[in-house]
Amino acid sequence: MFTSITKTEERGSVKALYDWDPYKKGILYLECEKGDATSYFLSSGVPNAKLFPVNRCEKICESIFSETGVKAEACLIEDKLKTLYSSWEGEERLFSCAWMDRMAKRVDTPSLKMALEMADVVKVTLSLRGSEAEAVICEFEGAVKEAGGCIASRPTPYKGASGVTNMVKFTVFKAELPNKKKDAVGGKRSVESRKKNSSPSLLGRVVHVPLNKWGCRRPGGYESVMRVKDCLAFRLVSKYRKTRYNLKAVMKDGRVHKKTEKWTLAEVEASLFLSE
Ligand SMILES: C[S@@+](CC[C@H](N)C(=O)[O-])C[C@H]1O[C@@H](n2cnc3c(N)ncnc32)[C@H](O)[C@@H]1O
Repeated sequence: MFTSITKTEERGSVKALYDWDPYKKGILYLECEKGDATSYFLSSGVPNAKLFPVNRCEKICESIFSETGVKAEACLIEDKLKTLYSSWEGEERLFSCAWMDRMAKRVDTPSLKMALEMADVVKVTLSLRGSEAEAVICEFEGAVKEAGGCIASRPTPYKGASGVTNMVKFTVFKAELPNKKKDAVGGKRSVESRKKNSSPSLLGRVVHVPLNKWGCRRPGGYESVMRVKDCLAFRLVSKYRKTRYNLKAVMKDGRVHKKTEKWTLAEVEASLFLSE
């Protein structure tokens, strides 16, 4: 029912975000009764244990299970986020991607905020039906700003199941370490928990940057750089602006190259790519 070119692309990009995550944490997403997204993820190699489908309706969850063998949780995704957030320590993200594939016109800002803290990337679909596209997009951009996120790509209106261009999709992320569990659900953190979650400096640490960061274009000029499996080794040598790092390549003999790379690494990626 929900299969269209754009839906297929969206599922593919959620899967790509899972692949991009070196820790393969998994996907939290809204699913419909046929379990089409789940079937797609399974057939493209995501293991059952890394799939966390949710639907508000018990019957739909049963249908998802009988169609795909993956157990879906019958609840509102907002409640699921709240439950996870209340016991989340804030030290590492829980999902490679959270996909709020909905037909509503807005998202609940605290839920978006929690999703941005607990998932590397959040994808959101909204309906434009009966509204000015501009108004829906502006309101969502305001919610993203309030939730401390950034929109990774321009919002794209597209055709929904009805064949009318009345949907819009966004990709959102939060470019900072997931170690500051904030007051997204209204609670105050204790001093102990703040100490526990305080950001250790990553300066001087070595990161193993997966080659797939460069997509299918393999980076040139790194033949003498240390390779560890499918990653290249770099040392984080200084901060770039507030949330990024400058890097120098670690050579095969262990020396650090004298030149700083022209590209920088977001703090969140640096923490994910730490070598030890
Ligand atoms: C658009 S479908 C998901 C489609 C799926 N991602 C795919 O690729 O085929 C969204 C489903 O989630 C349900 N839903 C919408 N908002 C929800 C919410 N806040 N919590 C739980 N379920 C929700 C809808 O009723 C619908 O069955």
